[in-house]
Amino acid sequence: MDHTAEWQALRAHLEALDGVHLRDLFDRDPGRGQRLSAEAHGLLLDYSKNRLTGETVELLAAVADRAGLRRRIEAMLNGEPVNTTENRPAWHAALRRPDPAPEVSGELDRMAAFAADVRNGRWEAVVNIGIGGSDLGPAMAAAALAAYAAADRDVRFLSNVDGAHFEAVTRGLTPERTLFIVVSKTFSTVETLTNARTAWAWVADAVGERDTGRHFAAVTARLDKAHDFGIAPEAVFSMRDWVGGRYSLGSAVGLSLMTAVGSTAFADLLAGMHEIDQHFRGAPWAENLPALLGLIGLWNRNFWNWPTCAVLPYAQELALFPAYIQQLDMESCGKSVRADGTPVGAATGPVVWGQPGTNGQHAFHQHLHQGTDIVPVEFIGFCRPNHGHTEHHDLLMANLFAQAEALAFGAPDVGDPHRRFPGNRPSTIILGDQLTPRSLGRLVALYEHKVFTQATVWGINPFDQWGVELGKTLAGAISDEIAGAAPSGTARDSSTQSLINRYKSRRRSMP
Ligand code: F6P
Repeated sequence: MDHTAEWQALRAHLEALDGVHLRDLFDRDPGRGQRLSAEAHGLLLDYSKNRLTGETVELLAAVADRAGLRRRIEAMLNGEPVNTTENRPAWHAALRRPDPAPEVSGELDRMAAFAADVRNGRWEAVVNIGIGGSDLGPAMAAAALAAYAAADRDVRFLSNVDGAHFEAVTRGLTPERTLFIVVSKTFSTVETLTNARTAWAWVADAVGERDTGRHFAAVTARLDKAHDFGIAPEAVFSMRDWVGGRYSLGSAVGLSLMTAVGSTAFADLLAGMHEIDQHFRGAPWAENLPALLGLIGLWNRNFWNWPTCAVLPYAQELALFPAYIQQLDMESCGKSVRADGTPVGAATGPVVWGQPGTNGQHAFHQHLHQGTDIVPVEFIGFCRPNHGHTEHHDLLMANLFAQAEALAFGAPDVGDPHRRFPGNRPSTIILGDQLTPRSLGRLVALYEHKVFTQATVWGINPFDQWGVELGKTLAGAISDEIAGAAPSGTARDSSTQSLINRYKSRRRSMP
């Protein structure tokens, strides 16, 4: 990759930009803010506060072409087996087409009927049990769309195997009126099954074993395992193996979300995703929001060598969006080898992190403005709030604009080094009209395809996650040892073994 003429051209171009301040770039080109912006379906992407020029974008587009991005998009959208290490499609786009295949529309209809029953029924609360992609998407979206949910809807999310999470999530609920939706593509994830068994016992204690199954629904690709668990076939919804966990919000994984916001809002979410799928497929790179976001991320990561990227929504409802994007990006792009098994030969996905503004301004923005590392920021904001407190909203958005301005331009040197704001710190602003089911769908697809753009250039498979397996295997063995079902490990390192020993000897003796 870095031997290609396109990559080398970017390297040479970088040298020309090194030492040029964003202040100079804006002074030289008064129309820069508008010129280095793109818009699609009501989302504005202003990337002018990055250390780049129009020429950078052209050179990045050449890298995308060299990587065959256009062809790869077609392959993904057409359901070809782009997930090569698992030999299957990554066909989340098929879930949100206006003309879905019968297997997709049939499941959507079943979900809508089930969600309507739940909404009209005797349930006081719905608890989604799942982790990773079986939790973060619906949890993020349910919080994001709280303004669109019926006021009496109580939908909660249980993910961590930590018993404290079970306690916190079920606090105040009555088992007789609680419905659990167990979401697990594999139906073998230990955290989810442990929580599901505890939930089952909690309900059974109150209503008796015979009636407990009626309090459970499931979403899985392993229908057999859900049935074996005790969940009735009519309450089991299918997740296809061609949908990856972190790309699954538009599938039956969104069932708990649908119980909160209803099937019409869910359809709007899917429609917003589809709009961006089509935009990604057809728009020239210079107008293509996901491609631009991905290529700028690549520029920041591979050429400026900035190792992290902050996602900062100025929308409290998007509080979980950074965590959602963190899984989407880091599980997809945290790879060292290309799809063919050879080393990538370049840095891949950055560490993605963030939390909503303005809270972050009173926590980590000090580091963003004056720290020794440079952190490219992606700000997300909306012109209209979902509430009537317009004064708050104006203040919120003034802060977003001010942060991006301060990062880019800094302030004139006042002489005191402690008060120096150097500026020249990059950020991108995504500005939508309003946070709605449709605009949320657009935002989710924007980031999915940002990730796809980067993975394509790096030549990695963004749809597998083999890196999580070793920890699961080791935890299984240690857990057996703690339970006394396996002898003490003789082959373990001295640190791990003595930690386990100390834990075993002290865990029951603490007051
Ligand atoms: O953390 C690994 C992972 O496999 C994720 O990719 C996935 O979203 C999560 O676990 C949950 O998996 P499942 O839906 O099979 O329970």
